[in-house]
Amino acid sequence: MIKNWLENIKKVKSIKKLEETRIAIIGKNGELTKEFSKMKLLPNEEKKDVAKILNEQKQTINDAISKKYELLKMLETERVLKKQKIDIGRYNTTATTASLHPVTTTMDKITTYFANLNFKIEMGPVVEDEFHNFEALNLPKHHPARDMQDTFYCEDEKLLRTHTSPVQIRTMMTQKPPIRMIAPGQVFRRDFDITHTPMFTQVEGLVVQQDEIVSFANLKFTMEKFLKYMFGDVKIRFRPSFFPFTEPSAEVDISCIFCKSKGCQVCSRTGWLEVLGCGIVDQNVFKAVGYKDCSGYAFGLGVERFAMLLHEISDLRSLFESDIRLLGQFR
Ligand code: DAH
Repeated sequence: MIKNWLENIKKVKSIKKLEETRIAIIGKNGELTKEFSKMKLLPNEEKKDVAKILNEQKQTINDAISKKYELLKMLETERVLKKQKIDIGRYNTTATTASLHPVTTTMDKITTYFANLNFKIEMGPVVEDEFHNFEALNLPKHHPARDMQDTFYCEDEKLLRTHTSPVQIRTMMTQKPPIRMIAPGQVFRRDFDITHTPMFTQVEGLVVQQDEIVSFANLKFTMEKFLKYMFGDVKIRFRPSFFPFTEPSAEVDISCIFCKSKGCQVCSRTGWLEVLGCGIVDQNVFKAVGYKDCSGYAFGLGVERFAMLLHEISDLRSLFESDIRLLGQFR
């Protein structure tokens, strides 16, 4: 009988049929179960041997059913997977394309402009030391710009750079003049309000010649061309200013692109928007890097400010919030 049962299990082709077969053999009224009931009729001395045989048979049946179950389950999974089709060419209408962040596109526009004028792109570390960030840039020990309130100080006399100007110093200390470079990168200051964030992005520029005069006129020409490229047909003015690393220094304004100089909230009713700082490199800076008989100009600008003006964004902080509704507008 056991041979028949095993044969039946072998022939089964579905899990449902397997369960039926199981019941027919070892269910309540199954054929093997009935054999157990018949034991009552046997003489006592035979019972033990028969019970042993029947239990072994039950074990064999159970094993065969478990094995068969696993096999059928596997075949069924295979069948389901074969039927399933994934159309990888199907177009998902809910998916949207990503876009570059306005700070990124503005940075690209600025760096591409200067790269086309043969300015080399230089990088420097974000964690700087006092020498490169301050000292060599003619910012002596007790200068207010070094104040704990502005600068994030780290361990071991290190700090987070407060501007990209230290890349000037690193470039001059490792390269000989002539220099023609821009340094894009992130800078850090302890500041947070509607016009300040603790991290922002700058581009620093530097041009140095040896035994030749780099004049303020050269600087003015380059800045004017650049700003017209960025903002279109705007008026440009240079206002005398002060930076420790340049002398003379200037801040540069463009005529307000929002009100066409009539006076509005963005330009504080002045008709002008301040966009960058620049000047003729102070000789003390050349001294600090060991350059002799050199002259040059430098400039520095905030990329977020440029992006805000180009895209008419009023709150600087919105550039850092990653709000998809805002970013989606720049696609
Ligand atoms: N480093 C200045 C700042 O962070 C920006 C700057 C102004 C850089 C004038 C220059 C410069 O090179 O000549 O505010």
